[in-house]
Formats: sequence, structure tokens, C-alpha cells
Amino acid sequence: MIEIGKEIQTAAYLFASILFILSLSGLSSQESAKRGVLYGIVGMAIAIIATLLGKGVGGHVYIIAAIAVASVIGILVARKVEMTAMPQLVAILHSFVGLAAVLVGFGSYLDPKTHTLTGAAHTIHLVEVFVGIFIGAITLTGSIIAWGKLDGKVPSKPWSFKGLQLMNLLLLSACIVLGVFFCKAEGTGGMVYLGIMTAIASFIGVVLVMAIGGGDMPVVVSMLNSYSGWAASAAGFMLGNDLLIVTGALVGSSGAILSMHMCHAMNRSFFSVIFASGSGAGNGGEKKAIEGEVTALNHEEVAGLLKEARSVVIVPGYGMAVAKAQYPIYDMVQTLRKAGKNVRFAIHPVAGRLPGHMNVLLAEANVPYDIVMEMDEINDDMPDTDVVMVIGANDVVNPSAQDDPASSIYGMPVIEAWKADKVIIMKRSMSAGYSGEDNPLFYKPNSEMLYGDAKASVEKILGFLKN
Ligand code: TAP
Repeated sequence: MIEIGKEIQTAAYLFASILFILSLSGLSSQESAKRGVLYGIVGMAIAIIATLLGKGVGGHVYIIAAIAVASVIGILVARKVEMTAMPQLVAILHSFVGLAAVLVGFGSYLDPKTHTLTGAAHTIHLVEVFVGIFIGAITLTGSIIAWGKLDGKVPSKPWSFKGLQLMNLLLLSACIVLGVFFCKAEGTGGMVYLGIMTAIASFIGVVLVMAIGGGDMPVVVSMLNSYSGWAASAAGFMLGNDLLIVTGALVGSSGAILSMHMCHAMNRSFFSVIFASGSGAGNGGEKKAIEGEVTALNHEEVAGLLKEARSVVIVPGYGMAVAKAQYPIYDMVQTLRKAGKNVRFAIHPVAGRLPGHMNVLLAEANVPYDIVMEMDEINDDMPDTDVVMVIGANDVVNPSAQDDPASSIYGMPVIEAWKADKVIIMKRSMSAGYSGEDNPLFYKPNSEMLYGDAKASVEKILGFLKN
């Protein structure tokens, strides 16, 4: 195997870092997202090749075999995964980064070279190992719990108890004390402290994510993304790999910025979400009783309402993704627009299960960007709207976010669908949304339910519209 010199490797790492930055900037808009992904792939390929060809790297056969097996698994999983299951996949991939940081940490500590270091260099390396494993263990278990919550294997409701923050603070203090003993231990004698800290950090990861739930889950996904970046960066310090440090820091900081954007969109304080101290997340009091009656109509009646309407707003949600209803929805929109109606989409920042989930699906169906409005752009137009069609959405149109302080989504800005003349809610049953909160919108006098799978319902309505 050919070997490249340090200078060439550094130049390759620099080039890869630039490609990663271009990749992140490309991913910030739908038009440039594909190009962003491509930059990321090329950057990663350069990074792997430059690392493999670096001085002192052995076991190429095993590394290439591992990459081949992992690539086949990756391709199979990526081809099979449904768009609706992407958040779970992302969460479980974050857990791999956490696990990698833990393994690199233990490997580095057990490496005899570590113990040939002396003085400050030795202490700094031990701190890197300790902190890297701490972040990695939290990322590992936190991501597994997030995967469970997103996949419905763990209840999505927040699980918490009085004194949780105090317990976490005590556990964190215990880890700091263990860290001091670890750095003072001779040889590999600190293994026991490292083991106990790993167990504590793994436990913190579990309780931290268990305590966040419902409507705050989007922040958890982006926050774990950020943690996985810091875990990778910590692994970079342990391995003395500059590229890993830079890449990890890029992922860590971009994940943190995304988490802050999410918190802003949901009117939550960043720290109260990540420490699960519950800002705005329900005051624990008794929930408001829901008043009113639920009424339903059929597809022909919905088509009749649409024919009479001048302005229509469509609020898509997670159910649209499940039903893959975006294609017939766009057919319906085109039919209505040809008939002279003003039809627009209202997108909530956390609709679906991924940041930008609805935008991606609508772009896939070729819906023009100029009729896709953000919640803040369209909420003021609701009182002048004839018909709002809520298609597979629930939490993002729940009025209790505004008027029930006991609701776990209280304080989250929502699309004010109820202000329109008529609201049609298209879903399969009366079941709650992701947050588990009942939705008083369904009981309002101007609301009507249209039960059934979103795609099948839209296709039937379209049939009546075209007749
Ligand atoms: P949800 O509140 O989850 O409601 C989706 C609704 O879709 C359900 O009530 C369900 O009712 C309906 N549905 C499911 N399959 C359907 C189908 N085939 N046809 C028609 N309807 C169907 O969705 P939302 O309003 O988009 O809100 C998103 C929620 O997820 C928020 O609480 C948000 O905080 C959370 N979350 C978001 C993210 C990100 S980053 N966006 C990440 C994690 C969590 P039926 O079962 O009765 O049909």
C-alpha cells in the first residue's frame, strides 16, 4: 500500500474540511441540497483515503473489509427506509458516533503509547479520553432512547420526577470527582473510574432524553446531532486527528444552531428543553375540558365546499408523509388553481418528524415554492380564508397550545386553522398526535372531520372536483 507524507495528508484534510463546509451550506436550501450531499460524499471519500494512506496506519485489509461490509449494510438500509422512518435512522446513526467515541476512548487509554506520555501532555490526553467517553456515552444511550421514542417503542410523553435536575447535577459532580481520580491513577489503574463514569454517563443519557418528549422531540433530534459532533471531535483529540476535530466541531456547532432555531420556532428556552426543566411544557394542572361536538362529512361534500371557496389553505402534517399523499394533493391544488382559487400551503416548523420534512415532500411532488408559506407568513390570513384543509396534521393546529396552560404543548406557536370560515380535518380516527394531547380543534363548530387515509381521501375528492 502506498504511503503519503504528512504534508499531502494535511492538504487533503484541509480540502475535505472545505468540502464539508460547502456541504453544510448547500444543505441549507432545497435547491442546493443535492449538491451539498455530493460535496459531503466527495469530502468523506477524500478524508478516508487520506487517513488510510497516512504514515503508521496498518491493517488495511481489515479496514477495507469493514468499510465494504458497512457500505453494503448502509446501502441496503438507506434503500429500504421509508421517508417517515428517517428520524429514527438518524437517531440510531447518532448512537453509532457515540459508541465509536466510547470505544476510541477505551482503546486510547489502553494503548501503551498513552502511558509513555509524561507531565502535562499525559494529563491533557487523559482529560481528552475522559471527556470523550463522557460525551460519547451520553450520545450513545440518549440516541437509543430517542430512536425508541421516534419509533413508538418508548412512550413519547416526557418521563420525569421531582428532583431530576438535582440528581443529574449530583451525577455530573460525581463524574468530575471520578475524573480527578482517573487523572491521578498510575498506568491503566484508572480503568475502574472510567468504567463507573461510563455507566453514570450512559444513565444520564437515558434520563435526559426520557424527560423530554412530545412536542419538544424535534429539539432532541437536533441536540443529539450536536452531541454526536462533539463526540466525534473528542475522538479526534484522542486520536490526534485534525480533520476529525474540525468535522466534529462543524457537526456539533451546526446541530446546536439548529436546536436553537427549533427552540425559537417552538417558543421554548433552549436550556429548559435540554435540561428538561419544562419551560412552557404543561404546568401539571388539570387540563381544560373540551367542549363541542365532532361532526363529519364525506368526500363529495368536501369537493362541494372547495368548489365554492375562493381561498384555500392546506396544512400538511406527519399523516401526509405516512400516506404519501403529496402527489394527489398537488393534482388537487392544480385543479383548484385552474378554477381560479387562491390555494396555498401553511407549513409549521416542526410538522412531520424531521426539520423541513413537509418542504421536502412538497418539493418532491413539484409544488412551486411560492405557494408554500411558513406559519408566520400565513397565520394573519386565516380569518380571510374560506377553507382550511388539515391533511394528516394534528399537534401543529392544536389550539390548546395557546389556551390550555396544562397542555404539554402550551406555548408552542401553532397554525391558527380555527380562524378560517371552515376547517376540514383529514385523518383516520380521533387519535391524538405525536404529543399525545387531545385536539379541541376537532370539536369547534366550524370544523368537520373527513375520516380515512389522506391519499385515498384526496384522490376521491379530486374525482368529485373533476366531474
Ligand atoms: P402529529 O401531531 O404527529 O399528527 C399526525 C396525525 O396524522 C395523527 O394524528 C394521525 O391521526 C394522522 N395520520 C397518520 N397516518 C395518516 C394517514 N395515513 N392518513 C391520514 N392521517 C394520518 O403530526 P404534526 O401535526 O405534523 O406534528 C408533528 C409532531 O411531531 C409535533 O408534536 C412535533 O413536535 C413532533 N416531532 C417533530 C419533529 C420534527 S423535527 N418535525 C421531530 C420529532 C417529533 P390518525 O391516526 O387518526 O390518522
